[in-house]
Amino acid sequence: MDYYAVIPAAGQGKRMKAGMNKQFIKLNGIPVIIHTLRVFEQDEACRGIILAVNENEVSIFQELIRDYQLNKVLNIVIGGKERQHSVYNGLKVIQERDPIVLIHDGARPFIKKRMIHELVRYAVQYDGAIVAVPVKDTIKAVRNNIVEKTVERSSLWAVQTPQAFRLSVILKAHEEAEKDQFLGTDDSSLVERLGKNVYMVMGDYENIKLTTPEDLIYGEAILANRKGE
Ligand code: CTP
Ligand code: MG
Repeated sequence: MDYYAVIPAAGQGKRMKAGMNKQFIKLNGIPVIIHTLRVFEQDEACRGIILAVNENEVSIFQELIRDYQLNKVLNIVIGGKERQHSVYNGLKVIQERDPIVLIHDGARPFIKKRMIHELVRYAVQYDGAIVAVPVKDTIKAVRNNIVEKTVERSSLWAVQTPQAFRLSVILKAHEEAEKDQFLGTDDSSLVERLGKNVYMVMGDYENIKLTTPEDLIYGEAILANRKGE
């Protein structure tokens, strides 16, 4: 089943403290965003990619896309203040009637094709499909440094991207969120609040989001390990 990919890459990367948007940091000599885009470029089921970027970085992304000979980036849209706005801007330019759309962080370069295909399959059957992994740590609710309670771990999942939906479902969810000024930390939450059924697929602990500097060490190790396979 075919799909379109919307890739938000319009953040600042503040927590990474690299002095630039973390999308441009090189892993194994190649920028993070290129690692991510290549997964979709090389997936025959991907019909096209919409990339959301910062206004002042458009030409950098264009140059990278040219240098690495990527052919599937159909649109570069300007991102918004929050990730949610960047995604919404990307969704709005898709021309096809009601395809499956997969939303994936530019900062998650280790996503595997197998997982993408599984998500797309479930997104057709349900109102949406997401990947998540069981939380490994014990999680506590804390207020003013005092523990309020220990949250039952068995029901907790750490959610990743991609998240896949029918375009009509996710567009409507973003419209409603904008109307209600609801800001979610992921796209699925916008769909969930409309009472829809989102299917959860078991994810992969390697599918990390590069967020803080230590993540780069782990990232390099993941790539080295894959090379050795
Ligand atoms: N993103 C975006 N538009 C924004 C904010 C984030 O497109 N206004 C993108 C980021 O580029 C990233 C993804 O959403 O690919 C996940 O966000 P996050 O990991 O928070 O990245 P940043 O916002 O760049 O990092 P930080 O929060 O540390 O500044
Ligand atoms: Mg952020």
